[in-house]
Amino acid sequence: MTKPMGDCTLRMFEEWRKQRNGEVVIKIEISKEFHKLTADIIATTAFGSSYAEGIELCRSQTELEKYYNASLNKVFIPGTQYLPTPTNIKLWELDKKVKNSIKRIIDARLKSKCKTYGYGDDLLGAMLNAAKSNEHERMMRMDEIIEECKNFYYAGQGTISLALTWTTMLLSLHQDWQEKLREEVFNECGKDKIPDSDTLSKLKLLNMVLMESLRLYGPVIKMSREATQDMKVGHLEIPKGTSIIIPFLKMHTDKAMWGEDTEQFNPLRFVNGISQAAIHPNALNAFSIGPRACIAKNFAMIEAKTVLTMILQQFRLSLSPEYKHTPVDHFNLFPQYGLPVMLQPLDSSS
Ligand code: HEM
Repeated sequence: MTKPMGDCTLRMFEEWRKQRNGEVVIKIEISKEFHKLTADIIATTAFGSSYAEGIELCRSQTELEKYYNASLNKVFIPGTQYLPTPTNIKLWELDKKVKNSIKRIIDARLKSKCKTYGYGDDLLGAMLNAAKSNEHERMMRMDEIIEECKNFYYAGQGTISLALTWTTMLLSLHQDWQEKLREEVFNECGKDKIPDSDTLSKLKLLNMVLMESLRLYGPVIKMSREATQDMKVGHLEIPKGTSIIIPFLKMHTDKAMWGEDTEQFNPLRFVNGISQAAIHPNALNAFSIGPRACIAKNFAMIEAKTVLTMILQQFRLSLSPEYKHTPVDHFNLFPQYGLPVMLQPLDSSS
C-alpha cells in the first residue's frame, strides 16, 4: 500500500508547489493538510474511492465529529437523542450525508466487478466479496458494511492525521533529529524514491521518533472499559460493572515507569525496542493492547513512515512564529490552533 500512499502524498506536494507561487519558503497550516491527505489515503487504500468522493466524505465526517465531541462534555439524559433538537437534526443530516457518500462509493464498486478480483482486493472489496460469496449462509448485510466503512474511516483518518501533525511539530522543534532522520532517509531510500515496505523497515531512527511522538502526543489519550467481573488491580478493588478510564497520556509520562526525563523528547529511549524503553514491557499503549487493540497498527505505521519519509526527502521544516503550543483534549489530542510551519524545499528550483 505504500505506492497509493506515496501517490496521495505527491498530490499534496503538487498543491504546496502551486501555493508557493515563486516564494522559497512558505507558511502552511500543516494539520489541515494532513487531515486532507489522510482522508485521501484511507479513501484510496481502503475504499478505492475517487479523490473528490473521499474529500466530500471527509468534510461531512469532520463536521459530525465536531458535534459528537461537543456532546461528550454534556450531561446525557436518556431519550433526548430522539428529540428533534437543532443539534440532533444537524447530526441526523450529517450522518445521512456520510452514509450516502459511502453508499455511492459502494454502488460504483458493485458496478465494477471483475473476474479476477471480484469486487476488489482492498477492505471494501474484501467485505463485498464476503457479503456476496454465500447466498445461503448469512454473511454481512449492506448496512453492516456501511457501518464498518464508517468505523474504518473514523478510526483510520483523524488518528493518523494527528500522529503526523505531532511528529511534524516535534521534528520542527528538534532540528537535530530532523537532520538525523533526513540522513537516514537519504541513505536508505535515496532523495526522491517513494519508499517501499523493505526500505521503510530499515528506518530505525524514524521508528524511534514515531514511538516517542506516540508516547508524548499519542492521538488516543484515554480508553474506556467496563469490568466484567469483580477484580483487583494493584491495591484497587474494582466491582463488576464499573466503568474504567485508562489514561494513556498520564501513563506515558509517569516518572516511575519512564524515568526522570519522562517529559523530554528522547527517541533514544526506544533504541532497544519498545519493550525495553520503560520499566514495564507494555508501558507504551498508544495503540492499546489485547484483543481489541488497534487492528490497523501496521497500516498506521507504514502510512506515517511513508508520508514523513517523503516530506524529509523534499522539505526542511521549522515552526512558524505564529505557532501556539496548546494541546487540547477533544476526545483525541488536538493542537488547538493548528500547526503552522515554515516549509522550505531542499531543492529550491523544484
Ligand atoms: C497513529 C494512528 C492510530 C492510533 C494511535 C490508533 C489507536 C487505536 C486504539 C488505542 C484503539 C483501541 C480503542 C479501544 O479499544 O477503545 C484502536 C482501535 C481501532 N483502530 Fe486504530 N489507531 C490508529 C490508526 C488507525 C488506522 C489508520 C485505522 C484504519 C485504517 C484504525 C482502525 C482501528 C479500528 C477498526 C479499531 C477497532 C478495533 C477493535 O475494536 O477490534 N486505526 N486504535
